[in-house]
Amino acid sequence: LHVVHIAAEMAPVAKVGGLGDVVAGLGKALQKKGHLVEIVIPKYDCMQYDLVRDLRALDVVLESYFDGRLFKSKVWVGTVEGLPVYFIEPLHPDRFFWRGQFYGERDDFKRFSFFSRAALELLLQSGKKPDIIHCHDWQTAFVAPLYWDLYAPKGLNSARICFTCHNFEYQGTAPASELGSCGLDVNQLNRPDRMQDNSSHDRINAVKGAVVFSNIVTTVSPTYAQEVRTAEGGHGLHSTLNFHSKKFIGILNGIDADAWNPATDAHLKVQYNANDLQGKAENKEDIRRNLGLSSAHIRRPLVGCITRLVPQKGVHLIRHAIYRTLELGGQFVLLGSSPVHHIQREFEGIANHFENHDHIRLILKYDDSLSHSIFAASDMFIIPSIFEPCGLTQMIAMRYGSIPIVRKTGGLNDSVFDVDDDTIPVQFRNGYSFLSADEWGVNGVLERAFDLYTSKPDSWQQLVEKVMNMDFSWDSSASQYEELYSKSVARARAAAH
Ligand code: GLC
Repeated sequence: LHVVHIAAEMAPVAKVGGLGDVVAGLGKALQKKGHLVEIVIPKYDCMQYDLVRDLRALDVVLESYFDGRLFKSKVWVGTVEGLPVYFIEPLHPDRFFWRGQFYGERDDFKRFSFFSRAALELLLQSGKKPDIIHCHDWQTAFVAPLYWDLYAPKGLNSARICFTCHNFEYQGTAPASELGSCGLDVNQLNRPDRMQDNSSHDRINAVKGAVVFSNIVTTVSPTYAQEVRTAEGGHGLHSTLNFHSKKFIGILNGIDADAWNPATDAHLKVQYNANDLQGKAENKEDIRRNLGLSSAHIRRPLVGCITRLVPQKGVHLIRHAIYRTLELGGQFVLLGSSPVHHIQREFEGIANHFENHDHIRLILKYDDSLSHSIFAASDMFIIPSIFEPCGLTQMIAMRYGSIPIVRKTGGLNDSVFDVDDDTIPVQFRNGYSFLSADEWGVNGVLERAFDLYTSKPDSWQQLVEKVMNMDFSWDSSASQYEELYSKSVARARAAAH
């Protein structure tokens, strides 16, 4: 199959969160299975250009329509992690992707509706005939209606459209009039069964449009797929998702097992594997030294937490876990920052409070290298999310032998199975989970984990070895996508005959 991903992120060159990891990880896994995979992303000024091989500008100048006029874009091509990537650089006077950051601009809706159209224009003008166009999140959700309304009639008609939503909290809504800029017909689309926002008659909703107009709609775990079909979990889209439930499915993400491998990880002080856990202990000592934590007691559990500090992640539960860990005699290392001003301020306060403390350290920034060291050094890894479409850090933590402690929601519920849950076959049990999103929930789960760690060191070590040997690579998830794609393509061909 020929698969083209159109997305706002791709790891490691242009990554904000898990979306970037998925585009690269799924892309690589499908390529390995023999498919032709290409990626289209914007050419941001703040990308990591040193990670792109053989970057060069194409001769063609792309002309695409926006705001009633034609604008030119330059197209660049290069290789990232072995995948061919096209980078679109609009020569628009507003310098859409030349802003020093990926998102968070006032005109994000405009920037990404422009990009969605330019990406389709690139496929049309270069004569590509992909079998699947796979778009991700609201930023490229416009691709689905644009494809059927404008590009299929122009001859770019070989493809089936797959849309993956990584988080239904972000839907890309705007006043209906803004939809016209990228050439879509507002009168046709501002209808309840099309792109009209479910809670406002004069707003349109990009994610809803993609759900309505795509052939395949996925999200990133089976449990989350069920949650978003309920009024409590659907962020206003549950009725739309229920109406289109036949084409909607949850597929659990994988992780990039080469990029996250403690046996080869160059960021670590000492590499290690499940048969040689001495190396893990040395990484723990190393991080304690580097962060100025006490090393007095080797059997003092170290709890790690690496996250964006946003309400979705359960910030109040994270805060509580820090204090409870201290009371239980453990150590806590938090790495992460917040785009929300008052949350960042609050955590800065906690960080200052514990500045010279023996057992607590908060590092309030994004630091890829340090994140590797924390996965390796920690004994436990806490993710108390209020909701979590998939979550990747619980899988990475397990690969590094850090036992996940999670709230039972979304993809966490599909990848972490409580060691004390008798309804789950023993071989799948791999961590700790709790349901009630309050202090008691956190207390109970931490106490159980600390208890096993301190009173049954042998059982703990067996658990560590077990989770390190579990397979969370992309292989099986990529096969599910492969099957979805193939079935959809076959259905279209059968219908055409
Ligand atoms: C989003 C979700 C996260 C998921 C990631 C990749 O960041 O919040 O749960 O793992 O996308 O799909």
